[in-house]
Amino acid sequence: MKNVLVVGSGAREVAVSRKISESKVEHALFCASSEKNPQIESLCSGYLVCPLSHIKNICEYALLKKIDLVFIGPENPLADGIVNELEAVGISCVGPKKEVAMIETSKSFARDIIENCAPEKNPAKRSFKSLSGVESFINELNGEYVIKYDGLMGGKGVKISGEHLPSIKDGLKYAQSLVDMGGSFLVEEKLVGEEFSLMSFVDGKTCCHMPIVQDHKRAFEGDVGPNTGGMGTYSFANHSLPFLKNREVLDAQKTNELVAKQLLKKTGVPFVGVLYGGFMLTQRGVKVIEYNARLGDPEAMNVLCLMKTDFLKVCDQIIGGSLSKNSVEFEELSTVCKYAVPNGYPNKPAKGFVIDCKIKDLDVYLASVNSSDGQVVACGSRTAAAIGKDKNVFVAEKFAERKISSIGGDLFHRKDIGTKELISRRIDRMEKILR
Ligand code: AMP
Ligand code: GLY
Repeated sequence: MKNVLVVGSGAREVAVSRKISESKVEHALFCASSEKNPQIESLCSGYLVCPLSHIKNICEYALLKKIDLVFIGPENPLADGIVNELEAVGISCVGPKKEVAMIETSKSFARDIIENCAPEKNPAKRSFKSLSGVESFINELNGEYVIKYDGLMGGKGVKISGEHLPSIKDGLKYAQSLVDMGGSFLVEEKLVGEEFSLMSFVDGKTCCHMPIVQDHKRAFEGDVGPNTGGMGTYSFANHSLPFLKNREVLDAQKTNELVAKQLLKKTGVPFVGVLYGGFMLTQRGVKVIEYNARLGDPEAMNVLCLMKTDFLKVCDQIIGGSLSKNSVEFEELSTVCKYAVPNGYPNKPAKGFVIDCKIKDLDVYLASVNSSDGQVVACGSRTAAAIGKDKNVFVAEKFAERKISSIGGDLFHRKDIGTKELISRRIDRMEKILR
């Protein structure tokens, strides 16, 4: 009997919990999170409600419940060293120690790692602690730049010239606000192209790659508005995307492999868990936008619903260092995932309202919610995701659209994700860039 603890309670953790529940390995599932997600609770033998920053409490709970394996969903506990603490008391984890989770938590650390193993994947970039030299670097980049907070901001710390920062003055003002917060920041060359996510299971040395997914970071239809945690995603049945050639897929896979190796070389700590490469195909080839140290959200829903291999067996291979390139099989189907988010998200989201949805619906994944007195209440971040899966991506889109529209509450979602119009526009745009 294996006792498994999932840390976190968003839609990604619902997807993970469901995969664990499908496992043929005899097990009992537990969850630790700041909110009570009723979909996870219905699969659990025990549920600890506690802030994710209370790592000591989570460790005590894991010891009390004789947990054999912990799967960590979100980045914050990884950054805080939850894996270091759990492993110190003899509990195995699928998730990296804080020394290597820094690939996500520090954007300058990530750029340095890439510089040492795949320098051609980096944009022009410079790290700053004050405004000194920022304006002249922006001018060197011909005013085409991106400013990134050098820490965790839930995907919302990046502002882009022209879109979020109409003038250099606006850029300097944003940079000043980051300095005022006491943080350092990066100024990067603004890359132009199509983004894609490639996640790999990693056992410290071997990477087992998952299907490629495309996320939609902007809040509103037509890819406008502020950056979000991700409004929705799609993947194609061939596990690639229509604007990618095979050599570009291999290039991204190779980059994840080099980064995993470089992390070990640089820190002496093996990366164990899921390594998420955020890439962009540009006129000058595949570039890295960011790295994450965990499953993407919503990307987790796209890939896990396709996974044919027993999830707990894969976790054992990750922990035991016995992963091989072909350890995990995925169905050859397309997927579309859409998020319903509170009106006002991400800047001033509505919260505290009741959501009307079928909790037992396996195509719906509740996210930032709490259950109280039999009601599901929205907590203000992304509320619920719905997924469609089919040979044809547009059939999958229609299914996901119908499901997400059926969820009641003070919510909105992007109707354009996964539609023929948006995907065609992306292919056309990429063709123009590559011409
Ligand atoms: P990040 O948190 O680093 O993933 O950034 C969030 C979003 O900002 C990315 O998904 C991109 O859309 C955009 N972005 C980040 N870095 C760059 C860059 N150097 N050039 C163009 N867009 C970027
Ligand atoms: N979907 C983007 C992320 O998980 O960071």
